[in-house]
Amino acid sequence: MDISIIGSGYVGLVTGACFAELGNTVICADNDVKKISGLKKGLVPIYEPGLKELISYNLKNKRLKFTSSIREAVKASEVIFIAVGTPTLENGEADLTGIEKVARSIAQNMVGYRLIVEKSTVPVETCSWVKKTISTYVKKGYKFDVVSNPEFLREGSAINDFTHPDRIVIGAESLKAKQIMTNLYQPLNRPILITNIKSAELIKHASNAFLATKISFINALSRICDQVGADVKEVAQGMGLDSRIGGHFLRAGIGYGGSCFPKDLEAFITISRKLGYDFQILKAVRDTNQEQGAYVLQKIKDALWIIKDKTIAVLGLAFKPDTDDLRNSPSIALIMGLSREGARIRVYDPKAMAKAKEILKEAVFCKDPYQAARGADCLIVATEWNEFKELDFIKLKNTLKRQLIVDGRNIYEPGPLKELGFTYIGVGHGNE
Ligand code: UGA
Repeated sequence: MDISIIGSGYVGLVTGACFAELGNTVICADNDVKKISGLKKGLVPIYEPGLKELISYNLKNKRLKFTSSIREAVKASEVIFIAVGTPTLENGEADLTGIEKVARSIAQNMVGYRLIVEKSTVPVETCSWVKKTISTYVKKGYKFDVVSNPEFLREGSAINDFTHPDRIVIGAESLKAKQIMTNLYQPLNRPILITNIKSAELIKHASNAFLATKISFINALSRICDQVGADVKEVAQGMGLDSRIGGHFLRAGIGYGGSCFPKDLEAFITISRKLGYDFQILKAVRDTNQEQGAYVLQKIKDALWIIKDKTIAVLGLAFKPDTDDLRNSPSIALIMGLSREGARIRVYDPKAMAKAKEILKEAVFCKDPYQAARGADCLIVATEWNEFKELDFIKLKNTLKRQLIVDGRNIYEPGPLKELGFTYIGVGHGNE
């Protein structure tokens, strides 16, 4: 099929590259001319495992093309995905001006039937606004359909999530739209759920909100575990073995971050309020997440007493492993909190250092975990990158000034570290 993706951000690039890989002809469009000229040369602006290779391969095969002209994209393709950003406004609502603009451009440049697929995370009823907008601006009465096809991919495993999704959700009205969408996804051979448009839009918000709820629940529980001396990992394991609960997203830590959960939760709370419902559960999820960062900061203060002039090594800056994304990263929030108290910060992250240099002006950027630990009073693990799981602790012990490890992601077994002479502070393992 001939497909266009409008918006070459995270979702747009992964979707475009993966559809090209499946044998379709794909045009990715974006109004950021600089970004597009880089992409034409295979320069990918984000780090996502496998994405650069997939883009280069499909560029060479001429199945993937980049343009800064929406017009060109709309003319060439029967199926058009909207994957532009929907940032949060000050009042918590999603900013949909980008979506409206794209809908207008699509309408003005159509040269026949078009299937418009809403892929950005949007509030329920956005598709009906897209439909109204296109109807208003479309020329010559060209026919079109609008469908909702929410994306569930995670940063760090986006390509695998796209090619092996648990489910593909398609919210559509006409038979033609349902058929085109089913044909498009059929090569993946994964379960396809066809729903009405509003249900599909809600499935996205509901899924992210539910996953965030699981995380805040286990983080709240970690505080009880600390009080009574239980182990939150064991509690999560015991809960997760119940298939009705499931073991995923029950890892306690310094809280969730990223470009999705915080933003989507805020938007969902706001939409609900506008619809006349005060979604209190979600407010508690958000507040618990904010408190969790402060809780871990307090643990560090309790261990060090005075933070001012202490040297603190932080391993991991990205909001999760396998990405260089720093948006709403709990690690950055923690570092800011420590800096405000006068700590000297030394950091290391396998992929996010370049982006972090723009934010953390006073931190010392180190080439590996050992250099970060040099002379530090405390070592904090803030992101669970694999390379932090297998450190040389003898070397670390001799490098640190004080043998204090704050494991903000619970990646270590406390026992062996304590035997080596470290003071170990985890999340939900009992207070020291
Ligand atoms: C999330 C969803 O998982 C995707 O399904 C969705 O498509 C995406 O948002 C989106 O809306 O675009 P993502 O934000 O990339 O994906 O990352 P997650 O793996 O969900 O992690 C989010 C945050 O939760 C991270 O900060 C992570 O460290 C934290 N987390 C996750 C925990 O603290 N504990 C857990 O058990 C799991």
